Amino acid sequence: MKFFSRQPQNGSHLTGTGDTGSSSGRRGKGLRRLVSAILLLGLLAAFTRPGKKATRSIARRLDARVECFTEPGSSAYVRIFAPIFGRLYVSVASDVVRELKARGGTRGATIVDLGCGPGDLVVEISQRVKDARITGIDLSPSMLLWAGRHATTDGRIKFLVGDAAAMPFDDASVDLVVSTLSMHHWDDPSGVFAEIDRVLRPGGVALIYDLGLLAYTPEEMDEVAIAAGLESEDIVRERARGGLISTFFVRYKLEGVD
Ligand SMILES: C[S@@+](CC[C@H](N)C(=O)[O-])C[C@H]1O[C@@H](n2cnc3c(N)ncnc32)[C@H](O)[C@@H]1O
Repeated sequence: MKFFSRQPQNGSHLTGTGDTGSSSGRRGKGLRRLVSAILLLGLLAAFTRPGKKATRSIARRLDARVECFTEPGSSAYVRIFAPIFGRLYVSVASDVVRELKARGGTRGATIVDLGCGPGDLVVEISQRVKDARITGIDLSPSMLLWAGRHATTDGRIKFLVGDAAAMPFDDASVDLVVSTLSMHHWDDPSGVFAEIDRVLRPGGVALIYDLGLLAYTPEEMDEVAIAAGLESEDIVRERARGGLISTFFVRYKLEGVD
């Protein structure tokens, strides 16, 4: 992950560098213009189609420049980003429990977290369903070094290095697949959805959460579904529930069928 540290330049960070009333007036005016421009852009981004498209494209380009799956990026992710999303993991874990209870209960359930990163969501879920088996899978060994701290010796919680598009599970063997913030990184999203469809038990469910700005649009997801051998209506786009942070997320849901 590239972190840009902003260094003060030409001593301008020092106080007493000769500010005058007129320069602070100019600065105030400049600041007001900047805030107005940001507000205007925000409105365009939120309420107009071209604005939404442009914002999505900028967000995707910025995200593509971020590399957080090797050190020191993984450590930075653990320290800076994972805590920001803490509230999301709480509401996703509640969704997981609700879905399992609606489908026959949590006892003995098999849960898989795709692209589990440092394992925060796995921990959150494990605190709510003590009688389930949870496996986190991630491509990144350095992320899994962090996640591994949460593994249990009885195998109830474990972490595997692997690709979500090639899961080491039997057909129809998983009750619930969950994923947060990983889908937009998948090189082969239709491969992953085909795998999810393969491993889910009939009556099982997949809940895939991603940032709205980075997640696939409904049109893109239709293509992903078709390429995965599914019908486009099999993957349902929903609003993520929960606190303020959830408003930035969408959820894709796929039911396991015979
Ligand atoms: C932004 S992190 C999110 C981690 C975690 N789910 C969270 O919410 O904090 C995205 C993770 O997805 C993983 N990832 C990307 N593509 C993957 C794939 N095809 N299979 C498994 N993991 C993948 C990355 O290695 C990374 O750890």
